[in-house]
Amino acid sequence: MLQTRSINSPANNLLIQEVLTTATKEAAVAVAPYIGKGDKILADQAAVDAITRVLAENDVFSCEVVMGEGVKDEAPMLAHGDILGENFDSMYDLAVDPIEGTTFVANGQEGGLSIVALTKKDSMIPWSGIRYMKKLFVGPKAKDLLSIGGDVRIDADPEKNLRLIAEALGKKASELTVASLLRDRNSEIISAASRIGARVIGLSGGDVLPAISTCFDESGIDVLYGSGGSPEGVITTAAVEILGGGSQLMWDPQTDRPLEKRLAIDRGELGRVLFPHAIVGQGELHVAFTAITDYQDKLTGVSQDEHGNWIPGDTFARFRS
Ligand code: FBP
Repeated sequence: MLQTRSINSPANNLLIQEVLTTATKEAAVAVAPYIGKGDKILADQAAVDAITRVLAENDVFSCEVVMGEGVKDEAPMLAHGDILGENFDSMYDLAVDPIEGTTFVANGQEGGLSIVALTKKDSMIPWSGIRYMKKLFVGPKAKDLLSIGGDVRIDADPEKNLRLIAEALGKKASELTVASLLRDRNSEIISAASRIGARVIGLSGGDVLPAISTCFDESGIDVLYGSGGSPEGVITTAAVEILGGGSQLMWDPQTDRPLEKRLAIDRGELGRVLFPHAIVGQGELHVAFTAITDYQDKLTGVSQDEHGNWIPGDTFARFRS
């Protein structure tokens, strides 16, 4: 059991960070034997079990799983509505992606990580049954454009949006770098980026790290633009928010699942721009992740010591209080 404090008192931010970091580190280590072994389900299950154990046994806070990954892929997942942790005086909402980039991990490729985000109870947008969200993420310099009343709207003409973002960054359109998942549903955005002469980084999968990268000038990625997984969208919003970047999202019901559109209509959220406060609230916010595999020259994944024990990869943990 991760016993770091006596129960029945409000949770402390640093202790929360310690629990979240431990959860993602243990997940990364649990997944390590499955890297490159071609079995996504086994890898995912190992990560889910490790995160569940650490969160369930912690006495710093309790949390409800409101955004879990797995639904889209029918992979192992932490079930929505599950309550984990032993301090019911400090209740939080949890978004969790035990493995972001499961395919990468199973194939021994770069870009796998374990990541969680936490907000105070009832502050996080809950799972809606809609698998995809349109996403637009930028770093701090272009953040104002995406704020409420800013000039960019995620559902406006992508060419116009990208030109405005380039201008805010003090770049020519041709100097802009746009990352987007290579999917038919993103073809309009990718074509718009190409039309204005921007550099397009087409992603085979894994839009979380490229989105977070927009907050770091040296990453070379200015914008993450396009539709991807919903849990990943919520978790990324938390990370980008903490790093001072800007984001807008929108549920993206897919036509092959008519029920998704119905769900969005019933929630009054079809076509509604979701600003960060609607996704992760305006109060306390935590994010932690641990690299499972390397990511370019930016993150180092798990490794083994001389005794063959697995050592977690690079870890990131931040909070907004
Ligand atoms: P994994 O299932 O391999 O973990 O994929 C994660 C991911 O690539 C996310 O980064 C992305 O948001 C989403 O899946 C895209 O989903 P899809 O591949 O169905 O377009």
